[in-house]
Amino acid sequence: MRQNSAVFDLDTWSEQQLASVEKALSLWISPQAPAGLGEAMRYAVLDGGKRLRPLLVLAAREAVAGLTPDAALDEAALRAACAVELIHAYSLVHDDMPCMDNDVLRRGKPTVHVQFGEAQALLAGDALQALAFELLTSDASAIDDHVQARLCRLLAASAGHAGMAGGQAIDLASVGMRLDEAQLRQMHRLKTGALLEASVMMGAACGSPNAQARDGLQRYGQALGLAFQVVDDILDVTADSATLGKTAGKDAANDKPTYVSLLGLASAQAYARELLDQAMSALHASQLTQTHALSQLAQRVVNRNT
Ligand code: IPE
Ligand code: IPE
Ligand code: MG
Ligand code: MG
Ligand code: MG
Repeated sequence: MRQNSAVFDLDTWSEQQLASVEKALSLWISPQAPAGLGEAMRYAVLDGGKRLRPLLVLAAREAVAGLTPDAALDEAALRAACAVELIHAYSLVHDDMPCMDNDVLRRGKPTVHVQFGEAQALLAGDALQALAFELLTSDASAIDDHVQARLCRLLAASAGHAGMAGGQAIDLASVGMRLDEAQLRQMHRLKTGALLEASVMMGAACGSPNAQARDGLQRYGQALGLAFQVVDDILDVTADSATLGKTAGKDAANDKPTYVSLLGLASAQAYARELLDQAMSALHASQLTQTHALSQLAQRVVNRNT
């Protein structure tokens, strides 16, 4: 879909994109998985969440799509959008467990371990992670093998020890500690930023951007990814549980180092705005033109209240 800046509306665009994503997720997460596992997996993923990561994949795909329609690359982007949301949902299921953040509310519902028990929550997370890579490597599609492999590599690297899982390990090891800004930035980049950056780069991998465009998109994804977790830290302090759909005030209660505990609220907010400026400059430097969705998504990440 070509974007016209005069008429581009993020809500309308998101609604159109997410109609396909929600349909695909519901189709691909089988309720048939044994012994109630399918029910727990569907509970973790469907009917909730802002779906930011899928939207970033699809927005980046649009930015690099060019003028020639390519159904296989559109399908690759849809599969990537679903796969990254599965990894994200799995990370939330495990993040909420008693051995990690011990949360009882997520997306306005009881957390998966509260609803289904800890063992089932552990397995639902495991199965969602595996399903993400199964979706990226479908037998039944015309997607080039090298595109499939690249998508798998980007997602695996961002979810593993050098990304989300590594960041979560730092997070748990940092309870009650005072991190300096460089350490906190590194923790946030890994635990949250890596998957958001990968979302952008997976969208980019569904096209052929030149080096300048790739570099701009990567720097956009890095700045946006860090901004996202800075704002998550801020909302934990400023928003209420009903608005967030998760328990507010948990970072202080769990004695976690955050941008608010390090810098104070006003400076954390100023830092989020600075990161938004960095994201927008990087997008501009990419010299891509179909970037209205990416641009408005970045603004939404920083100006959101949930
Ligand atoms: C929450 O992510 C967890 C973090 C990485 C900070 P989101 O705020 O994107 O959660 P959902 O998907 O909208 O529920
Ligand atoms: C979560 O960070 C990062 C993940 C990898 C899930 P948080 O622990 O701050 O996320 P919330 O606030 O529980 O959503
Ligand atoms: Mg956590
Ligand atoms: Mg948490
Ligand atoms: Mg948080």
